[in-house]
Amino acid sequence: MKSISWGIMATGTIARKFAATVAGLTDTGRVLAVASRDGDRAAAFAAEHGVPRAYGDYAALAGDGDVDVVYVATPHSHHYENARLCLEHGKHVLCEKSFTVNAARAAELIALARAKGLFIMEAFWTKFLPAYGLLAKELAAGAIGEVTHFRAQYGFAPTGARYVRKFDPALAGGTLLDIGVYALGVAAMVLGYRPAALHARALPGEYGTDRFDSIMLEYANGTTAHLVTTIGTALPAEAAIFGTEGRIALPDFTALQEFTVFAGGEPRTVRAPFAANGFEYQIRETERCLRAGLTESPVMTHAQTLAVMGLMDEARAQWGLRFPGE
Ligand SMILES: NC(=O)c1ccc[n+]([C@@H]2O[C@H](COP(=O)([O-])OP(=O)(O)OC[C@H]3O[C@@H](n4cnc5c(N)ncnc54)[C@H](OP(=O)(O)O)[C@@H]3O)[C@@H](O)[C@H]2O)c1
Repeated sequence: MKSISWGIMATGTIARKFAATVAGLTDTGRVLAVASRDGDRAAAFAAEHGVPRAYGDYAALAGDGDVDVVYVATPHSHHYENARLCLEHGKHVLCEKSFTVNAARAAELIALARAKGLFIMEAFWTKFLPAYGLLAKELAAGAIGEVTHFRAQYGFAPTGARYVRKFDPALAGGTLLDIGVYALGVAAMVLGYRPAALHARALPGEYGTDRFDSIMLEYANGTTAHLVTTIGTALPAEAAIFGTEGRIALPDFTALQEFTVFAGGEPRTVRAPFAANGFEYQIRETERCLRAGLTESPVMTHAQTLAVMGLMDEARAQWGLRFPGE
C-alpha cells in the first residue's frame, strides 16, 4: 500500500498535537489535508504544520479523493456528524474521545463503518501506550496477587473561554465526557469492560453540566473501582491498583510511562518512556490496521468503545444529565 494520507478535521488543541506528531514520525504516512470551519484558520494551520491542502469546510476534506483516513478532532458533541460525513465519503476514521455523546450514536457510526467496510476507531491514545502492555503482564503474572480494587483521580482547571467551552452543554461539555472517560477507560482495561453495577454522583457546575464526578464500579467477582474526576481543580492524574499481595502506583495514568510495584521488599519501578509524545502508538495502530485491511483494531475494539459509552450513559442517567438533541 502506498504511504497513508491523513486528513485532520478541525484546528484546535489536539488537532495541532496530532499534526506535530505525524510530522515528527518517519515511519508513518503524512498529513495531506486539514479542514476548518474557517478558511483562514485552515490555511494558517496548514502553513504552520507543513500540510499541503487546506479546506474551509469539513465536507471538502471528506470529499478529497487522495485522503485515506480522517482524524476527527472536533468537540465530542460533533463527532457523530463529522465522523458520519467522513464514512459517507468512503473515508476511514480515527475519532477522538469521547467517541460520541452516547452509546446509541456510537453504535450507529460503527454500524455504518461496518456496512461500508471502513475502519473506525476511538482515539483513546492511553490504551496504546507500551507501559500498559507491561502492566498487563505484571498483573497476569500475579505481581500483586489477586486484584481487588482500582482507584483513579484526575482534574484540571481551565480558564477564560476554554472554561466556558469545557462546560458548554451544546458541546456535550462537563467532566465525564471530557476526562471521566479516561478513568472509566483505564478502569475497564484493568478490571474489565462489564462491571455488574455503576454508582455515580455528580455536582453540577454553573452551566448545568457535571463539574465533579464520583463513580464507583462493582464487578461480579467482588472487585471495585472508585473514580474521581473534576474540571475546576488540577488533581494530578494518579491511579493505583490494589491486590491481595500489594499495590501498583500509576503516577500519570492517562499518559503512563512508568509504574511502581509495591509487593513486599523494595518497590520496583517499571519504565516504558514514549518514543515521541505518546500519540505515535495510536497513529501506528491505525496505519497497521489499514494496511492489514482491518475495519476494527483488536487493541481498541468497537465493543470496548460501546461498553465505555454505555457506562457513561448509565452515569448520566443516574444524575439526570442529558445533552441538547438527546
Ligand atoms: N486524546 C487527547 O489527549 C485529547 C486531549 C484533548 C482533547 N481531546 C478530544 O479532542 C476533541 C477536541 O478537543 P480540543 O481540546 O482539541 O478542543 P478545541 O481546542 O476546542 O478544538 C476543537 C476544534 O473543533 C472545531 N469545532 C467544530 N465545531 C466546533 C464548535 N461548535 N465549537 C468549537 N469548536 C468547534 C474547531 O476547529 P475549526 O474552527 O478550525 O473547525 C476547534 O478548533 C474533544 O472531543 C476532546 O475530548 C482529546
